[in-house]
Amino acid sequence: MLAAGGYRVGLVGRRRELLEEMQSRLPNQPLISQIDVADTDTAIAAFRALIDEMGGVDLVVISSGVDFVSRDLPWEKDKMVIQVNVLGFTAIANTAFNYFLEQGSGHLVGISSVTAVRGGLVTAYNASKAFVSSYLEGLQFRAFKSKKPITVTDIKPGYVDTPMAEGKHLFWAAPPDKAAEQIMDVIKKKKSHAYVTRRWRLVAWMIKIMPRKLYYKS
Ligand SMILES: NC(=O)c1ccc[n+]([C@@H]2O[C@H](COP(=O)([O-])OP(=O)(O)OC[C@H]3O[C@@H](n4cnc5c(N)ncnc54)[C@H](OP(=O)(O)O)[C@@H]3O)[C@@H](O)[C@H]2O)c1
Repeated sequence: MLAAGGYRVGLVGRRRELLEEMQSRLPNQPLISQIDVADTDTAIAAFRALIDEMGGVDLVVISSGVDFVSRDLPWEKDKMVIQVNVLGFTAIANTAFNYFLEQGSGHLVGISSVTAVRGGLVTAYNASKAFVSSYLEGLQFRAFKSKKPITVTDIKPGYVDTPMAEGKHLFWAAPPDKAAEQIMDVIKKKKSHAYVTRRWRLVAWMIKIMPRKLYYKS
């Protein structure tokens, strides 16, 4: 949607073939960079190189994330969630924000989750998203103090029908296009935070106020 809207985009992820396929399909000659955010030092260097290759950027969207649903609590899975959703996220958010400070302007968008509002069965994932939202609010604080036109946006999606949601029989799962349209709208309006789709604001509020015993039974 950004590419179709006239942006020259830089696409990042681990799957090179998919990046190349998108590069050939999208307008405005997108650039690509194969980055695994879990490998933070390499990821920061590659992200900086991509910014240079693009001749600078004014919008960074951090969407990479993983979740693992398991009745058990395997350490290796928790570790992977923390490496990608916490360490990987922070490496890129920190680098992007410092770049925007230096440049004097910019817009950073982080994709958190409704699960950020409370701990849950998908233990590490919920905790990782609470970290993401808290870190983004910290950056909003810093942007305000800097007095520079830097915007930081925290997007909290509910369920979206992407590969992450596959096979989980989730309720109210939004089609990816609808979620993306709403995220685009939030980006254009430079809002500080938003639930996607909008109805998830109500769910978040209910999760927050639900008494423990009722919540644990849900
Ligand atoms: N789907 C939902 O219901 C839902 C709900 C709330 C929040 N979210 C959040 O929305 C964001 C996008 O998720 P999605 O639903 O689009 O899931 P998805 O289809 O599984 O996509 C995950 C994306 O993250 C990238 N990624 C994963 N690990 C990475 C790594 N180590 N380094 C770089 N990129 C990595 C993947 O690209 P590669 O595999 O090519 O690296 C892929 O583009 C995530 O942060 C997720 O937590 C999703």
